[in-house]
Amino acid sequence: MKIALTYNLKKEDESKPPDYFSEFDSEETINAISSALRSRGHSVAHVEADNPNLLSFFKNNPVDMVFNIAEGTRGKFRESQVPAILEYLNIPHTGSDTFSLALALNKAMTKKILIADNIPTPRFQVFVKGTETLDPQMCFPLIIKPNLEGSAKGIMKENFVSDATALYRRLKELIGRYHQEMIVEEFIEGTELTVGILENGTATILPILEIDFSTCAKSGEFFYSWRMKEFQGDEAKGLTPTFHCPARLDKATETLVKETALKTHRAVGCYDISRTDIRLNKHGIPYVLEINPLPGLNPKESNFPLMVYAAGMKYEDLINSILMNAFQRRKMKNG
Ligand SMILES: Nc1ncnc2c1ncn2[C@@H]1O[C@H](COP(=O)(O)OP(=O)(O)OP(=O)(O)O)[C@@H](O)[C@H]1O
Ligand SMILES: [Mg+2]
Repeated sequence: MKIALTYNLKKEDESKPPDYFSEFDSEETINAISSALRSRGHSVAHVEADNPNLLSFFKNNPVDMVFNIAEGTRGKFRESQVPAILEYLNIPHTGSDTFSLALALNKAMTKKILIADNIPTPRFQVFVKGTETLDPQMCFPLIIKPNLEGSAKGIMKENFVSDATALYRRLKELIGRYHQEMIVEEFIEGTELTVGILENGTATILPILEIDFSTCAKSGEFFYSWRMKEFQGDEAKGLTPTFHCPARLDKATETLVKETALKTHRAVGCYDISRTDIRLNKHGIPYVLEINPLPGLNPKESNFPLMVYAAGMKYEDLINSILMNAFQRRKMKNG
């Protein structure tokens, strides 16, 4: 097959804020994906998605399939923009469609869908101005997150707040910096889990990954903050979480967590791949924090490949499973 790989590349640019490129992909990831595709005999063209002529590019350079990992650069629907162009041109692509990508990038909207499907998710409130009255049902401690970001952008340990003074002070700072609404959630104390789903005809739920931050005490970080993600593994900074895959759960809890992730994947309408972030509270209830339809695919560092390896699969299997599922879906659509 003739494949185009669409992506946004991580760059070095001191003039941008430190988290500006956090969502984007490294050359290592892009090369790993194209090697995996080439290893099965496909030809692969690399297409950087930050190209204002993308529509005419694809019109003039037809391909059989686009392998899409582009996060997008502008606006609150940025992850949908490459798929929107491809859907307009009737070019098939891997992964979720425009609707699901736009939905999953909006944490509050996603949570409304989850609540409608009776999927537990932390109680929340959206702050647009940052001065709104706190819903009396919301119980401290709370966590503040930009509503329209991923890769933990804007999620620092200071966003964990234990009283109203700290909440409003931090809301002001974050709205000033990120120029967008903030979602405030009840902080779920408990085990951090993430669940990968890979569709290959039927949905395969990969072994659950547990991320234990108790080994990061020296850093002062205690959840999957931006610093934790950005500098993961840095021993000098003490940012060395311990991964357990499969997670240390009893059978009943494991089943419940997997069912919850699958329900989330279906509720948001994801295709081919997703990673659902969950916190298990002290009563064993899995609370869904969010779903990532474009999870990081770095072969050495990202969470998703760790779960793939624990399932006994290779990186090449992961990439080609995504491709084949997208291809089968296309055949059904045309059939
Ligand atoms: N309600 C919560 N209770 C406890 N911890 C939370 C909560 N919300 C977020 N966190 C912590 O912050 C991390 C990042 O939050 P979240 O997954 O919502 O953001 P994200 O930026 O979309 O993440 P990703 O990097 O996976 O795209 C979580 O993995 C978790 O450690
Ligand atoms: Mg997350």
